[in-house]
Amino acid sequence: MLNFEFCSPTKFVFGRDTQQRVGSLVREFGGTRALIVYGGGSVVRSGLLDQVKASLDAAGVYHMELGGVKPNPRSDLVYEGIRICRENQLDFLLPIGGGSAIDTAKAIADGVPYDGDFWDLYTRKAEVKTALPHGCVLTIPAAGSEGSNSSVITKIEGNLKRGLSTEFHRPRFAVMNPELTFTLPRYQLGCGVTDMMAHIMERYFTNTKDVDLTDRLAEALLVSIREAAPRAMADTTDYEAHATLMWAGMLAHNNSVGVGREQDWASHQIGHEISAKYDTAHGASLAIVFPAWMQYVYKHDVKRFVQFATRVWGVDPAGKTDEEIAIAGIHAMQAFFLSLGMPATLEQGGGKAEDIPALAANVVNGRSGNFVKLFPPQIEEILHIASEAK
Ligand code: NZQ
Ligand code: ZN
Repeated sequence: MLNFEFCSPTKFVFGRDTQQRVGSLVREFGGTRALIVYGGGSVVRSGLLDQVKASLDAAGVYHMELGGVKPNPRSDLVYEGIRICRENQLDFLLPIGGGSAIDTAKAIADGVPYDGDFWDLYTRKAEVKTALPHGCVLTIPAAGSEGSNSSVITKIEGNLKRGLSTEFHRPRFAVMNPELTFTLPRYQLGCGVTDMMAHIMERYFTNTKDVDLTDRLAEALLVSIREAAPRAMADTTDYEAHATLMWAGMLAHNNSVGVGREQDWASHQIGHEISAKYDTAHGASLAIVFPAWMQYVYKHDVKRFVQFATRVWGVDPAGKTDEEIAIAGIHAMQAFFLSLGMPATLEQGGGKAEDIPALAANVVNGRSGNFVKLFPPQIEEILHIASEAK
C-alpha cells in the first residue's frame, strides 16, 4: 500500500424526506445568500425545486436560481453563475441534480473569488486558493460528485472537456434521498450505474501490490451494484435498490477504494474526448471504452483480470485457461452494460471511425493511463476495438 492522505469532510444526510433539511444545512455551513443551480427541468417537474426553496425560505436563506445546466456541462453557464454571485453578493452554491449541476456549481464556487478566467484553474495555469462553500441535493446516482474532489467542465471554445480535482471541491453537505431518483429515465439510470462501476474499476486495475483490502472493498461494491441495478431498472419504486445504488455511487468515487494505490483513469480520459466531440452521455462513453480498454490491456496482468472475472462476475474457472477466464469476465461486464441499455460501439454512441486519430490526439497531455501507459497510437487501437469499422 502506498502512502496516502484521505479527507472526506462532507456531511451526508441520507434517506427519505431529507430535502426538507436543506435550509438548515445551508445555515449550518454559513450560507445566507445561495445560488441554486439546476439542469434542464427535472427538478422543476418533480416539485423538488419548490420544496428546496420552501426549506430555504423557512431558514431565512436568500436565494437566486440558475437553471439550464446541460449534461456534459459547458463553460457558458459557469461564467453566468460567477457574474450572478458577484453582482448579488451570494455566499453559497446549492446545486440540485447530478454531476452536471454539481460540477457547474463547483466551477462557479472556484471562479467567484478568482481574479481571472476560471478556465485558468482547469488548465492548471493557476491553482484554486479559495472557493465559495457549496452543498448539494443529489437526484441521480452516477458521477459521485456529491462526495468527490472533482469537477468536469467543457470549454465551449475548442470543445475541451477537462477535469479539476481540489479539496475545495468536496461539498459541505450532500442531501441524498433515494426517492428523488425514482423519476430517472432508465437510460440515465443505466449511464449512472456504468459510471459508478467505472469509477471503481479505474482504481481496481493497478500495478500497486498488496492492496487486498481495497480490492475486496471494490469487489463488494461492484457486486452490490451488479445485484441492485437490475432491480432498480425493473421497478422504479424499489427503495432499497435505489438506496444501494445511491450510496454505492458515492463510495465509488470519494476515493475510499482508491487510497494507497496507483490509479488508471485512461478510460475516463478517452471517454471525455468522445463526450466532448459527440455529446455522448458520460456513462455511455465509458460503456464504449472500458471493454475495449480491457481487451487491449488484460495481458499486462492476466491474474488481476482472473480475480475480477471470478470474484465480481462469478465466472466459473473450471476447465478454462487464465486467459479464457479473463476474457469471460470482460464479456460478462460488457453484457451487463448492454442489459442496462448502454451502447456497445463508438458508432452506437454517435461516433465515427474516421475521427479516431483526432480523438486520440486530443487526450490531455498526449498520454493517458497508469496500469498501461498509453499514447495516441495505443489509444487509437483501443478506439478501433470499440468501433464497428475494424
Ligand atoms: O437536467 P435535468 O432535467 O435535471 O435532467 C438530468 C440530465 O438530463 C437527468 N436527471 C437527473 N436526475 C434526474 C433526472 N431526470 C429525472 N429524474 C431525476 N431524478 O439526468 C440527466 C443526466 O444528468 P447529469 O447531471 O448530467 O448526470 P451525471 O450525474 O451522470 O453527471 C455527468 C457529468 O458528471 C461528470 C461527467 O463527465 C458529466 O459531465 N463527472 C463528474 C465527476 C466528478 N465531479 O467527480 C466524475 C465523473 O467521472 C464524471 O466525469
Ligand atoms: Zn465517471
